[in-house]
Amino acid sequence: MTLCVKARKENAEKIRQDLFEKGVLDPSKKIKTRAGFVFLPLRKKISGYTLHEEEFTQKEEKARSLKKALEKTLSEDEISILKTSFDTFGEIAVIEIPLELESKEKTIGKALLDVNPQLRAVFKKASAVEGAHRVRSLKKLAGTGNAETTYKEHGCTYKFDISKVFFTPRLSTERLRVAEQVKPGEVVMDLFAGVGPFSILIAKKQPLVKKIYASDINPAAFEYLKQNIELNKTDKVIPLLGDAKEIAKQHSGEADRVIMNLPRTTKNYLPTALSCVKEGGVIHYHTFAGSEEEVKEEIKNNIGAADYKILTVRQVRTYSPSEWNYAADIIKNLISK
Ligand SMILES: C[S@@+](CC[C@H](N)C(=O)[O-])C[C@H]1O[C@@H](n2cnc3c(N)ncnc32)[C@H](O)[C@@H]1O
Repeated sequence: MTLCVKARKENAEKIRQDLFEKGVLDPSKKIKTRAGFVFLPLRKKISGYTLHEEEFTQKEEKARSLKKALEKTLSEDEISILKTSFDTFGEIAVIEIPLELESKEKTIGKALLDVNPQLRAVFKKASAVEGAHRVRSLKKLAGTGNAETTYKEHGCTYKFDISKVFFTPRLSTERLRVAEQVKPGEVVMDLFAGVGPFSILIAKKQPLVKKIYASDINPAAFEYLKQNIELNKTDKVIPLLGDAKEIAKQHSGEADRVIMNLPRTTKNYLPTALSCVKEGGVIHYHTFAGSEEEVKEEIKNNIGAADYKILTVRQVRTYSPSEWNYAADIIKNLISK
C-alpha cells in the first residue's frame, strides 16, 4: 500500500502541481481515478493534506536507448548487429536495417519511436541514394503520416519530402563554411541546389550578396526550393528548373562563386562550372574519394586547359568504409585576381 492524496477531479490538477512542486509526488507510480476522485501517490508524508493508503500500479520504466528498448525482443546476437545510428529530419527518422533483422524491422521502428518522443514516423533505407535526382527509396516502419517534414538548420527552415528529394543533415558544417566565404555584391551559382540549403543559407548569412542562381533538375526539389525561398523570406535566391549544363549557358562568366554539390558526377560538370565562373572566381567542388591526392588528380584530369589553383581540400564527412566526402575550393585563373 502507498500513501496518497485523494482529490476531487476538478481540484486534482492544482493539487498534483502542488505535490509535484513540493517533491512528494511519486513519479514511479501511475495516478489512478475512481468514482470522481483522483488518487495521487506520494513518496513521503506531507502535512496540510488528509492522507490515505491505496494500491498503485508501477509505471514501466521508459527505455532511454534503442538497444535497451529492444533487449527483451531481440536476441543478443541480433542486438549486436543492430545499427543504432540514424538520421533525423525534423520529426522523421531514417534508419538502416541490416538484412538479417528485416523480419524485426517494424519492432525496431516502433522502439525507435518510443525512445524518441519528438519523432512522428520512422522510415528505413530501402535503397541506396540513386539516380540523377539522388533520391533514396524509403519504407515506413512505424508512426503516422508521410515523409514530408520541416527541418531547421543554422536559423533556416527547409520543407521537403525525403522520399522525393535529396537532403542530408551531414553537410551542415560544410554549408556554413561555404556561406561564410561569400562577400557582398557576389553572384553565386548553386548548380545542384536541391531544396536550397546552400543557397538559402548564403542569402540569410550574407544579406549583401547580389543574387544566387539555384538550379536543380528534379521537379520535386524545385517545388520545395520555391517553397523554402518563401518560408525563409529571401528575394536573393532565383530558383531554376533544369539541367545545370543548359542553365550555365545562359549565365556565362556571370558568377563570382559556383557550388558543385553532385559528388560522383561533379567531375563531368567542371567545364560547366568554369564557363559560368568569372576569372578569379571560386568553385566549391564536392566529390567522393579515398584521399586528398585522388581529389586533386580528379580535378586535374577533368579541368582541361584551364588555369586554376586548388586553395583547400578538406574532408567533409565519411561516406563509405573506403571513401570520404571531400570539398575542394578551386580558384579560376589566380593570376588575374
Ligand atoms: C547531392 S544532391 C545536393 C543537393 C543540395 N546541394 C544539398 O546539399 O542538399 C544533388 C542534386 O543535384 C540535382 N541534379 C542532378 N543532376 C543535375 C543536373 N544535371 N542539373 C541540375 N541538377 C542536377 C539532383 O536532383 C539533386 O537534387
